Amino acid sequence: MKVNGKPTRTIWLQSDGESVGIIDQTQLPHRFVTLTLETLADAAQAIAGMQVRGAPLIGAAAAYGVWLALREDASDENLERACATLLATRPTAINLKWALDEMAAAVRNRPRSERAAAALARAGEIADEDVANNQALGRHGCKLIEEIAARKNGKPVNVLTHCNAGWLATVDAGTALAPVYTAHDAGLAVHVFADETRPRNQGASLTAWELGQHGVPHTVIPDNTGGHLMQHGMVDIVIVGTDRVTAQGDVCNKIGTYLKALAAADNDVPFYVGLPSPTIDFMLSDGLAEIPIEQRAPAEVAMMTGKTKDGRIETVQVVPDGTAVANYAFDVTPARLVTGLITERGVIAANRAALAQAFPERVGNRLQSNA
Ligand code: MRU
Repeated sequence: MKVNGKPTRTIWLQSDGESVGIIDQTQLPHRFVTLTLETLADAAQAIAGMQVRGAPLIGAAAAYGVWLALREDASDENLERACATLLATRPTAINLKWALDEMAAAVRNRPRSERAAAALARAGEIADEDVANNQALGRHGCKLIEEIAARKNGKPVNVLTHCNAGWLATVDAGTALAPVYTAHDAGLAVHVFADETRPRNQGASLTAWELGQHGVPHTVIPDNTGGHLMQHGMVDIVIVGTDRVTAQGDVCNKIGTYLKALAAADNDVPFYVGLPSPTIDFMLSDGLAEIPIEQRAPAEVAMMTGKTKDGRIETVQVVPDGTAVANYAFDVTPARLVTGLITERGVIAANRAALAQAFPERVGNRLQSNA
């Protein structure tokens, strides 16, 4: 996608060929800042500190982190240490483990002298595959928007989304927002309601920023507004991203997604989930029982950061001193509330048979690892 008109990805190999560039997403929307990652510790810190975030981007950043580690020491022990360090950064998005498994498989059986080069090559492929997957799911999801547009006689299609599952959450192109960008670029009238998504406000700060950069009309709404809009026919379709989808189609995503799915079901609004296939975890079935839900620092709830009238970035406390807060980062939407999964292989039902049919090679992996 473009930033101030310049094609930009969220992660890239720096021109020196020795380090990795990222956008520091904790600085958006008020400052566009890029950072350089030179070591395993830099990559792990960037993921844990959410300078890079969003399931597919976390996976790509971890892949480059393995390369940075192997450049310094390509031993088996260091490969193991790098994967363990990166895996410990965030627990919920399965793309992280998927990418680490891919990296280990790409280097493990090679002589040490070849490992760093092989790791860099596989990290680059993981990044490129993410972009291709997202562009493909964007084309499939665009058809859903087209069908609604055809019924609306040129009036904008209103899409509600939660958190940020745009290009900033991926290497490029986005997941939930990929169909929106594809539709907008094709000349369809689309308008996005972006939930602000407390506590970290990724909707207000990131989704609004990237939609604005791309010229897509949008409105930020408080998290509790979606149900009201749906009751009044103001939402045509909900499209969210996901951090992990289980083999039976349960969807884990940013906290509050489940409430949007309930409201959508109650109001007959279609509820779709956009995802590239590395987000599917065929090892798990029951999302509620089995997906680890990250709990983050209480300060993310107790404090808010924003720009003052005179342009300073300030962080302020919004609860009384000493208040106990809970900060669950994700929730699980049961498959029964999901109208469909928008993947790079088409729009499929959120159930075990449809997922297995669409991605048979991944189900095979599960059987092998259970054997
Ligand atoms: O905590 P984050 O910002 O990494 O969480 C990201 C999300 O939950 C996104 O909404 C998302 O759908 C997964 S990334 C496409």
